[in-house]
Amino acid sequence: MEYKYFKKLGREVPALGAGTWGIGGGYWSKDTSEDKEAILTLRTGIELGITLIDTAEMYGAGHAEEIVGEAIKGFDREKLFIVTKVWQTHAKKEDVIKSAEASSKRLGTYIDLYLLHWPTSDVPLCETMKAMEELVKKGLVKNIGVSNFSVELIEDARSCLSITDIAAVQNRFSLSYRNDEESVIPYARKEGMMYMAYTPIDKGSVANNRILKQVASKYGKTPIQVALNWLIMIEPVVPIPKASKVEHIKENAGSVGWKLSKEDWDFIKRSFH
Ligand SMILES: NC(=O)c1ccc[n+]([C@@H]2O[C@H](COP(=O)([O-])OP(=O)(O)OC[C@H]3O[C@@H](n4cnc5c(N)ncnc54)[C@H](OP(=O)(O)O)[C@@H]3O)[C@@H](O)[C@H]2O)c1
Repeated sequence: MEYKYFKKLGREVPALGAGTWGIGGGYWSKDTSEDKEAILTLRTGIELGITLIDTAEMYGAGHAEEIVGEAIKGFDREKLFIVTKVWQTHAKKEDVIKSAEASSKRLGTYIDLYLLHWPTSDVPLCETMKAMEELVKKGLVKNIGVSNFSVELIEDARSCLSITDIAAVQNRFSLSYRNDEESVIPYARKEGMMYMAYTPIDKGSVANNRILKQVASKYGKTPIQVALNWLIMIEPVVPIPKASKVEHIKENAGSVGWKLSKEDWDFIKRSFH
């Protein structure tokens, strides 16, 4: 595994994480085979160095957090980096505290990074941010951040904080979805924040891309591995592809430990616009 150091986190994290939206059978499902496969997938990922796991209270109405909690059992907690999120309808102070406590219970551990999932105009941003700061004071949460935020909104969030700072932002970013290329990404880089790229492989569809297939064959890699490598080469991007199948997480792990040439990186970038 390769690692990236972020000043605002004060630590290294793997250059590749694992997403969990839609993993397992869901809280409504009686079929546990999907849960078992999801747990095995996450455990395989951890063994391969994918120790950063992204989840949220909203995923499977808490069930994804329960799966993560199961998957991390027995691993060295210090080496893991668990990210979860508070849904925006729980943005009021008392709800943020309740949500974090419930997430931590489902995960069976503290939270390394706690994100506000989406901005909301229903609750003043400073109320939510101060509640998140409270959680850091309590020790339940190590770092806080935001998701689906613009630079302006990140600055608003930062202005509410006194003892801590926004350490990370999580937005949608992939080869074909590059809204943050000239805005949030350079901002996060300058500020020492981690930028987590969600939906980084466009739901798996990059596997069929002709350009990526062409470049991948030169490196003995797959189109998915090339797409993820392209993202990882951007500072401070950490892509978090979701995999619920063991063979998928193994393939994704093969996106680190090598680098596209500058020419190929540029060629891919041009080809996607
Ligand atoms: N903050 C937010 O608002 C937000 C929004 C969306 C997502 N997220 C986070 O970001 C994570 C990733 O985004 P995403 O789930 O939307 O999309 P994604 O990671 O781009 O794509 C996931 C899909 O790709 C498939 N896949 C994974 N590895 C593959 C491989 N090696 N070959 C072929 N297919 C592969 C998965 O299949 P299998 O499941 O069958 O393995 C799944 O269907 C989420 O799980 C979540 O943690 C955050």
